[in-house]
Amino acid sequence: MASVVDIAKGTAHAGRPIKVEVKRKVFPPVGDREAQLVLRDVAFEVAPRSFLVVTGPSGCGKSTLLNIIAGLDDDFEGQLDLGPAGDRLTYIFQSPRLLPWRTVEENIALALPEGDPRLARIPEMLARVGLAQAANAYPERLSLGMQRRAALARGFIVEPEILLMDEPFVSLDDPTAQSLRELLLELWHSQPTTVIFITHDRAEAIQLGTRILRLSPGQASVAQDAEVALSDAERRDRSAVLREQNRIFAAA
Ligand SMILES: Nc1ncnc2c1ncn2[C@@H]1O[C@H](COP(=O)(O)OP(=O)(O)O)[C@@H](O)[C@H]1O
Ligand SMILES: [Mg+2]
Repeated sequence: MASVVDIAKGTAHAGRPIKVEVKRKVFPPVGDREAQLVLRDVAFEVAPRSFLVVTGPSGCGKSTLLNIIAGLDDDFEGQLDLGPAGDRLTYIFQSPRLLPWRTVEENIALALPEGDPRLARIPEMLARVGLAQAANAYPERLSLGMQRRAALARGFIVEPEILLMDEPFVSLDDPTAQSLRELLLELWHSQPTTVIFITHDRAEAIQLGTRILRLSPGQASVAQDAEVALSDAERRDRSAVLREQNRIFAAA
């Protein structure tokens, strides 16, 4: 069934799931390092406008998987079907990747082609992420937290159908990370999009995701696939998040 948003945007493909199937991902040998089988039989579908979090220990292959989904790495056995939504895919990396010689506003504008009507929404977007006063600042003047707000603004300004994020809130102090997570949920609620978010932080996974996919360590495959049963209000409540975290990861 098409939602109101689908009709308003005229996006006929909004109802189609993303299909990911990585049978094998092997990194070739380098020097005296042997070839490494990183992913094995990682297959799943992502429902449109759901928030999937892929978690698992450091080095298990999360970034490798996301790079495959993003189309940055096509050297794998398997299939990827993003459907038409794949044409509107945005990737927010671990480092904010802002151009140092461009202002915050210019960095966000770079995500869009010249003359695009979405350019007119940049001031509003900057206000939403709390950077209205920093529009003309250069990235080096911003804290890491603010740079990451700018990266979120740059991601959402394109109104992506698929939004990929690879540990975008690491190396932040806890209150800053927490405010960014709440901002991300706000942006996602006002602009629903299919999210695949990577983190090794289990509390973050539970707070953000509508569904958790946990990869096993070493030749990773899917160890767990669980729905998160939290209301929007509960996601802001640490004890509710911890309870759900204990429930979901009890077996892990
Ligand atoms: N370009 C590469 N060449 C060889 N090995 C790699 C490459 N990228 C990642 N790896 C290896 O693949 C494994 C998974 O890496 P990665 O996907 O970055 O893990 P994660 O994101 O879960 O921490 C690691 O053992 C890593 O050393
Ligand atoms: Mg990684």
